[in-house]
Amino acid sequence: MGPAALFIVLAAAAPLLLAAQSLEYNSTAKPSTTWINNNNLSADTFSHQDVRSILTIVQPRAHSGVVPTMTAGFYCAPSSPDCEEFLFAVSFGDYLENLYNSQIVWSANMARPVRENATLEFTKDGNLVLRDADGTHVWSSNSSGRSVHGMKITETCNLVLFDHKNATVWQSFAHPTDTMVPGQSLVEGMRLVTASTSATNMYITVVPDGLAAYVESTPPQLYFVQELVSRIGNDPTSVTLINGSLYGMSGPNIASPRGQSTQCMRLDSDGHLRLYELSNYSGWKVVYDIMETMNVCDYPTVCGEYGICTGGQCTCPLENNSSSSYFKPVDERKTNLGCTPLTEVSCQDIRHHRLLTIPGISYFDYSHIGNATTVDACKQACLKNCSCMAVSFGAGQCVWLTKVFSIRSIQSETIGSESSFYLKVQLNPSNENKRKLMLGATLGAVTALILLVIVVALYLQRMRKYEDKDEEFDFDQFPGLPTRFSFEMLRECTQGFIKKLGEGGFGSVFEGKLGEERVAVKRLEGAKQGKKEFVAEVETIGSIEHINLVKLIGFCAEKSERLLVYEYVSRGSLDRWIYYRHTNVPLDWFTRCMIIMDIAKGLCYLHEDCRRKIAHLDIKPQNILLDDNFNAKVADFGLCKLINRDESKVVTMMRGTPGYLAPEWLTSRITEKVDVYSFGVVIMEIISGRKNIDNSQPEVSVQLINILREKARNNQLIDLIDKHSDDMVLHQEEVLQMMKLAIWCLQYDSIQRPSMSIVIKVLEGTTHIETFDADSIMFVQDNPSAYSAPSQASILSGPR
Ligand SMILES: *[C@@H]1O[C@H](CO)[C@@H](O)[C@H](O)[C@H]1NC(C)=O
Ligand SMILES: *[C@@H]1O[C@H](CO)[C@@H](O)[C@H](O)[C@H]1NC(C)=O
Ligand SMILES: *[C@@H]1O[C@H](CO)[C@@H](O)[C@H](O)[C@H]1NC(C)=O
Ligand SMILES: *[C@@H]1O[C@H](CO)[C@@H](O)[C@H](O)[C@H]1NC(C)=O
Ligand SMILES: *[C@@H]1O[C@H](CO)[C@@H](O)[C@H](O)[C@H]1NC(C)=O
Ligand SMILES: *[C@@H]1O[C@H](CO)[C@@H](O)[C@H](O)[C@H]1NC(C)=O
Ligand SMILES: *[C@@H]1O[C@H](CO)[C@@H](O)[C@H](O)[C@H]1NC(C)=O
Ligand SMILES: *[C@@H]1O[C@H](CO)[C@@H](O)[C@H](O)[C@H]1NC(C)=O
Ligand SMILES: *[C@@H]1O[C@H](CO)[C@@H](O)[C@H](O)[C@H]1NC(C)=O
Ligand SMILES: *[C@@H]1O[C@H](CO)[C@@H](O)[C@H](O)[C@H]1NC(C)=O
Ligand SMILES: *[C@@H]1O[C@H](CO)[C@@H](O)[C@H](O)[C@H]1NC(C)=O
Repeated sequence: MGPAALFIVLAAAAPLLLAAQSLEYNSTAKPSTTWINNNNLSADTFSHQDVRSILTIVQPRAHSGVVPTMTAGFYCAPSSPDCEEFLFAVSFGDYLENLYNSQIVWSANMARPVRENATLEFTKDGNLVLRDADGTHVWSSNSSGRSVHGMKITETCNLVLFDHKNATVWQSFAHPTDTMVPGQSLVEGMRLVTASTSATNMYITVVPDGLAAYVESTPPQLYFVQELVSRIGNDPTSVTLINGSLYGMSGPNIASPRGQSTQCMRLDSDGHLRLYELSNYSGWKVVYDIMETMNVCDYPTVCGEYGICTGGQCTCPLENNSSSSYFKPVDERKTNLGCTPLTEVSCQDIRHHRLLTIPGISYFDYSHIGNATTVDACKQACLKNCSCMAVSFGAGQCVWLTKVFSIRSIQSETIGSESSFYLKVQLNPSNENKRKLMLGATLGAVTALILLVIVVALYLQRMRKYEDKDEEFDFDQFPGLPTRFSFEMLRECTQGFIKKLGEGGFGSVFEGKLGEERVAVKRLEGAKQGKKEFVAEVETIGSIEHINLVKLIGFCAEKSERLLVYEYVSRGSLDRWIYYRHTNVPLDWFTRCMIIMDIAKGLCYLHEDCRRKIAHLDIKPQNILLDDNFNAKVADFGLCKLINRDESKVVTMMRGTPGYLAPEWLTSRITEKVDVYSFGVVIMEIISGRKNIDNSQPEVSVQLINILREKARNNQLIDLIDKHSDDMVLHQEEVLQMMKLAIWCLQYDSIQRPSMSIVIKVLEGTTHIETFDADSIMFVQDNPSAYSAPSQASILSGPR
């Protein structure tokens, strides 16, 4: 059970309860509606969003801890890390173990992303039309004039246009992209296509005798086939993803019956068809590869075009092991990108075509058989037709290829049949003149190269001067800015980045000295922003000054290096002081209270007092530093805007740290209240002296917040107080009050969580929360399926 399910309502807090709005989702829409791809689609407080939702449905499910959500909306295109391009897509998400994970399962415009201000119009006559910001037509459902009455997202993650009789007119299930979800069928005529935007695309389709995988070319080449079986009452011309298996397909394709977990099946860009499952702590994980039985060298793109695969290693073709080569690697260091002919085969110059004999290899597709019956006839036929790029002759059959993908190397002892493989190459025109030409060309090239080097060197020198000027110019432009340091200077002040203070999601922190002052230098990793944007963000962060926020002293932006110089905070991060793997003495209650108050003040300033509202988004003990007097200071605020976290393609919406994430990552309507939730987790960690997620604990108590719910339910909160400190036990009553504040912050519904200014008032004692008196009985609801949910209703309510 994850804290997704954590939903605590204080029964006595009736006024709060009434004031709170339940989360409502629109899951249907009527024609004559237009949505513009801008921030109005999601009422959030910061600009970079992964989804702007149009239709959403939450599916209550029997087992606890999981709340599947289906959303149609505009998504940041995976190809656009800065989120400048969007897909109109449908995703399938689950909130599990405090972490929201989503997966795009269908997209209208995979190959043609749209920009900000693109429109999705559901026209009066029932057509769904996607236009880019400049009005260019990108995609449409072609459903005009078919009596479309509405559009809905279903609990199976299907986007449906329906008529007056609720009959389906158009559905995304009938136009699959690269993913299948449970319950979705692939029937004859449909294709599952790789999402890769590179030249090579693969697809899977149901053919009369099986499920077949092809690589795109004219004609397509077959690389995988699996028989389909006919079962009673089952259509032999379709496969359906049910309970972790492709129903209708023979062979070992069942991972295990996993009807209970969240799954999807995707044709990945490497040509594998994999079953993914959302598993605890680790996001989407591969649980099965339908093509598992295939050899690594059997995949058409494993070594790129013309690449020869030997046990996964890639080389370029050579004739009879001779040294004269006709191919070179596309990239010397990445041999799996394939090979390219030194001279392109040209149909204009067919006389200079030759067939190279490549021994000891075989090809994955032998299905395009020509009608020649001898080797020579086969080779002649290939030489005569320009679209033939290779032939293979064996067992009396002449096999043609119009495009050459990865080639398998075969061990001579294992191969019985004597099939031979011939690759077409283009000879350079007039071989006799070649040498002369080569010599001339070499001399010419050398001269040209020298000239080029000189020109480039001059140009670079100029550019550098120009850039230096540019930098100074930037610098002068922002007088209120923290000091700008050169990289050299920071290297010196940290003595070459040797003394590491810590390592975080954004990069490593080193100790340094500026004159007498000790500083912490953070070397950012993954900051791919331009200098201007970086400087603008630094300006914002640098202008924020508060006793409970770590002060930014300076920065460095040189070439690709981005560094931030912070004040040095002597006692390091809070995690070293509250978890007892460390040797520090347990903190007393007073100190813990002060630390909680300091964090609250720092956050309150970020949320409510500074010029630009800043949500921290990654509050955790590692980001809270303690000075000599145990004053706490919040670190790393504003960094989310500096860094594009490296997000794997599968997990598209994860930010922050597992264990501290608020449930509304589910809806993506993120407000500063996510920090309030994380703050609640931190209070509980401070009080109980352990990490929220602690894998060293017995399984039932891995999650502190889960235990909190249990204890609150049974009125045993006392059990959670840190036993290492007698002082804590002495102040039991106050500690219990603090826990109730934590619970208030940990409420499922972000609206019901207090703002940080209210938290401070409670801590100061100027606001007493009557509803938190010791006898108040907490109503704990941990099962999302128990939320009132009309079974057929199209609009479901979230927790209330
Ligand atoms: C649902 O749609 C209506 C208009 O169609 C809009 O006014 C309302 O804000 C939407 N609700 C949500 C929660 O998006
Ligand atoms: C967002 O909505 C508000 C109020 O409905 C409107 O004033 C504003 O122009 C909209 N913004 C954009 C970018 O469309
Ligand atoms: C989107 O449209 C709004 C209002 O029409 C405009 O202010 C904004 O600059 C546009 N955004 C982009 C990226 O074109
Ligand atoms: C709609 O029709 C156009 C042109 O006939 C076609 O290119 C496009 O693929 C169709 N779209 C869908 C979703 O069927
Ligand atoms: C269509 O479905 C909706 C909700 O599922 C229902 O309210 C409505 O009565 C149905 N209409 C018909 C004609 O079946
Ligand atoms: C899938 O699994 C569920 C629960 O384990 C079971 O009730 C159902 O019959 C299974 N469906 C099929 C087609 O095997
Ligand atoms: C995830 O964790 C819950 C308890 O926290 C457990 O019941 C469930 O079996 C786990 N799921 C997987 C796939 O490991
Ligand atoms: C390569 O070997 C084949 C037979 O295996 C032979 O016919 C051909 O002439 C050889 N090519 C060269 C360049 O030696
Ligand atoms: C090519 O060279 C490899 C080792 O370098 C050798 O094992 C193989 O027999 C050679 N093949 C031919 C046809 O000479
Ligand atoms: C080969 O097949 C083509 C048609 O596919 C036919 O036109 C041609 O005559 C055949 N050639 C021979 C030698 O059988
Ligand atoms: C060459 O081969 C291609 C593919 O096999 C075929 O479609 C085409 O008709 C052939 N052209 C000639 C001139 O034979």
